[in-house]
Amino acid sequence: TEEVFILAIESSCDDTAAAVLRNNKVLSNVVARQSIHEEYGGVIPELASRAHQQNIVPVIDVALRKAGITKEQLSAIAFTQGPGLMGSLLVGASFAKSLAMALHIPLIAVNHMQAHILAHFIDEEGFDKPEFPFLALTISGGHTQIVQVNDYFSMDIIGETTDDAVGEAFDKTAKILGLPYPGGPLIDQFAKEGNPKKFAFTKPKVDGLDFSFSGLKTQILYFIQKNVQANPNFVEENKHDICASVQNIIIEILMDKLKMAVAQTGIKQIAIGGGVSANSGIRNTLKAAEGKYGWKTYIPKFEYTTDNAAMIGIVGYQKYLQDQFTDSTVVSKARIEF
Ligand code: KG4
Ligand code: ZN
Repeated sequence: TEEVFILAIESSCDDTAAAVLRNNKVLSNVVARQSIHEEYGGVIPELASRAHQQNIVPVIDVALRKAGITKEQLSAIAFTQGPGLMGSLLVGASFAKSLAMALHIPLIAVNHMQAHILAHFIDEEGFDKPEFPFLALTISGGHTQIVQVNDYFSMDIIGETTDDAVGEAFDKTAKILGLPYPGGPLIDQFAKEGNPKKFAFTKPKVDGLDFSFSGLKTQILYFIQKNVQANPNFVEENKHDICASVQNIIIEILMDKLKMAVAQTGIKQIAIGGGVSANSGIRNTLKAAEGKYGWKTYIPKFEYTTDNAAMIGIVGYQKYLQDQFTDSTVVSKARIEF
């Protein structure tokens, strides 16, 4: 079979990432994180675009060097078309277009959310690939979706958030607790030493397979304010239990909807993707669901769950095989469906 080398570029939010794949294997996967946003408690779009502009050339150089290939060996360039921050997307897209043009090789536009799902098809020792059809739970800082995946490029969103994404629920809770951005990983860390049943929060009532997280955020805010009024050291003294309890209610909300989705579709193969699927509580609960409910769950390698370019590369490879190329008139999109 033909050897295909894809250079993939991901710049949808605050991380600048580049990867090189040989067919469905990852040769290099490089991410430059932007620490500047920590000071602001969230991503500042204008600062993100500027940092991408600074990072993109070195990140691509490192990705090629680590892969041990020259740019002349590349078969195609894949980049994130959207969804994401427009200014950030434009940096990656412009660079991908120029390089593809200079090298006279095809250009491939990739949907970031599809990539979070198709990351499962990266060939990685010790990781099984899901069989179609399967259900994907994509949970990130911008999205919360349950997707029925019928084939590589045939996906139906069967449930999604009506307001905040689950990553925002983690990050906003962290902010209320005075933790730096992004707070999801810190909540995960503190939750490990806490009692998940210590504080009870109520689950939102949302029809069908949809989600809502903005009410939970408000509930947590009032809960903290009320308790801090009575005891100024409440957060410090209960940090672990608060984090464990918040994480626990979020996991319950996700699991309730997944169980409904399985009942509705009859599909028992579940794959997770998106930054929040790095959460150890979510990973453990899903693993336990294999024995408990007879599901087969797919949890990707950690570096392929948060924003990365390897996942853009695997979609690029699939599209390459199907001749799904684009020309340089392609436009970046802040919002896109499948
Ligand atoms: O997919 P991603 O890297 O970027 C987006 O496309 O949004 O996801 C980032 C989100 C942030 O909200 C971050 O707090 C959350 O993923 N996150 C976590 C964990 N690691 C990252 N949330 C909970 N537990 C974690 N371990
Ligand atoms: Zn993402």
